Amino acid sequence: MPQHMPLLQTMKAALLRNSTHHLVLVLLLGVCAGIAPASGSGGRWDLLQRSIGVSAMHMQLLHNDRVIIFDRTDFGQSNLSLPDGRCRRNPRERVLPVDCTAHSAEYDVASNTFRPLFVFTDTWCSSGTVAPDGTLVQTGGWNDGYRNVRTMPACAEDDGDTCDWDETQDALAQNRWYATNQILPDGRAFIVGGRRQFTYEFYPKADPTDTSVISLPFLIQTKDPEENNLYPFVHLNIDGNLFIFAKNRAILLDYRKNKIVRTYPILAGGDPRNYPSSGSSVLLPLKPSPTEAEVLVCGGAPAGSYNSTKDGTYASALVTCGRIKITDPTPSWVIETMPSPRVMGDMILLPNGAEVVIINGAMDGTAGWEAANTPAYAPLIYRLDHSPGDRFEEESSTDTARLYHSSAVLLRDGRLLVGGSNPHMYYNFSNVQYPTELSLEAFSPEYLDPSNDMLRPTIVDPSPTGAPVSVTYGAPLTLQFSVPASTGAPPSIGVVSITMVAPSFTTHSFAMNQRLLFLDVVNTAALAQTGTYQTSLVMPATAALAPPGYYMVFVVNEHIPSEGIWVHIQ
Ligand SMILES: *[C@@H]1O[C@H](CO)[C@@H](O)[C@H](O)[C@H]1NC(C)=O
Ligand SMILES: *[C@@H]1O[C@H](CO)[C@@H](O)[C@H](O)[C@H]1NC(C)=O
Ligand SMILES: *[C@@H]1O[C@H](CO)[C@@H](O)[C@H](O)[C@H]1NC(C)=O
Repeated sequence: MPQHMPLLQTMKAALLRNSTHHLVLVLLLGVCAGIAPASGSGGRWDLLQRSIGVSAMHMQLLHNDRVIIFDRTDFGQSNLSLPDGRCRRNPRERVLPVDCTAHSAEYDVASNTFRPLFVFTDTWCSSGTVAPDGTLVQTGGWNDGYRNVRTMPACAEDDGDTCDWDETQDALAQNRWYATNQILPDGRAFIVGGRRQFTYEFYPKADPTDTSVISLPFLIQTKDPEENNLYPFVHLNIDGNLFIFAKNRAILLDYRKNKIVRTYPILAGGDPRNYPSSGSSVLLPLKPSPTEAEVLVCGGAPAGSYNSTKDGTYASALVTCGRIKITDPTPSWVIETMPSPRVMGDMILLPNGAEVVIINGAMDGTAGWEAANTPAYAPLIYRLDHSPGDRFEEESSTDTARLYHSSAVLLRDGRLLVGGSNPHMYYNFSNVQYPTELSLEAFSPEYLDPSNDMLRPTIVDPSPTGAPVSVTYGAPLTLQFSVPASTGAPPSIGVVSITMVAPSFTTHSFAMNQRLLFLDVVNTAALAQTGTYQTSLVMPATAALAPPGYYMVFVVNEHIPSEGIWVHIQ
């Protein structure tokens, strides 16, 4: 669908929708702003669960194909009971000293089922990393959970309901509420910022009694008028240094020497991009043996937007993205414009390595309670191989508002799991315009459309349902895959590439630790059986390119990815 469709067509498209809400929105924006926010037709939405009982504020896919979901313990009673009459009795809890409901759940993708999990202290607005052994290491939170670390393993089929969170009190050196994590080449988590914390630290610590932190003046220089610098965007560059973006600019930090090795210019316009002006950011897909890396930052909200919501004014969100080559010694931002403004959009790399999806969020306001008014129902696709000005496409809409405290993660089957949204201080299931969302949806990008079935590769060896494949750095790997053969015609095989994707810890519109690498394909050859191929590839050479842990590997034929397999690189 063209980005600027005529208004009449826009109206027709809107009339086809059954939601009057959309119609009003489309008409208003079509007339007032002169842009066409009508949703396109690409991709598909499916409701997976009407209620999982908790709101998906934070999500992480583990290598058992289960997604760990949690919100916060002081929202009041969730809609999911703890099993076996269990209750949480915590005198330090602010809202319910005795709470028999769960605030975390484990969602099993294959069976589309979920079970409650038990978190003891408050995980509100926290961060996380998957350790090299595949355990989710969640850090920080609020109140009684400020400095706690909680771990959740990838439970096995026969672990039953006893497999649950484990918690360490005061394992962090400082309170980490709204901090960002990035896994390092040595497998530790780099944890930076948080409310009024202009520092970073590492976890795990060689000495558990180590309470040292390292100050990062950049976070003070870029803090907001409320003395905060929350959820900065962090990416591990290919040289092992950390790209850290806050407010409207970025630095490249050598965390080993605590030295700033590069300072990036201000993103044009100077508007803030991190919380509460929550835009989002991705490290774009890396080529095999890369010499360059690029970051794309999209959306956000002008300074002052949060305050103005308090008197009922919802300023339009930012409509621009900035793209920068972070490896360039004299880098500059290239500005691109989205078809519609967005704040609180989640940016997720699609496994074909050719597209980024921007999903969830709002067209006005900011992050924060009751601070956005117009949900962004249609995801955007950003096509990396299109020319600037022609990269965005608006996809089909959901009718569920996913505002503050919503999230999205990529699944191994190529779908996105989308959940959460709670713009209120408590769980508010009724009598509010945008109730606390307990549902889970799947967004299937266009590559999953049956019209692409003839191109779709299927990995046959190693088996996608088998145990993760153990690999080492620079090691060869051989994959066999098939492509459907139609009668009388050879199978449709084009450019075959292999991608490797680190599953993200997503919260507050930022997918921490997200990373996509194209692997070096040495050779792809047809096997005797029609439609079956063998491809030999080489794993990334260093842990700076791919920190140790579990990744999904996909075969991509043209732009159509297979279902992934799990690999474990160490
Ligand atoms: C809460 O769960 C019950 C089923 O246990 C369901 O009927 C109800 O609709 C749920 N409420 C919400 C707001 O999802
Ligand atoms: C928002 O309001 C607070 C409290 O009144 C004030 O301290 C702060 O400077 C304001 N922020 C902006 C960006 O204007
Ligand atoms: C949400 O629920 C809480 C607790 O039940 C209630 O006090 C509050 O007024 C509700 N908020 C809104 C915006 O209705």
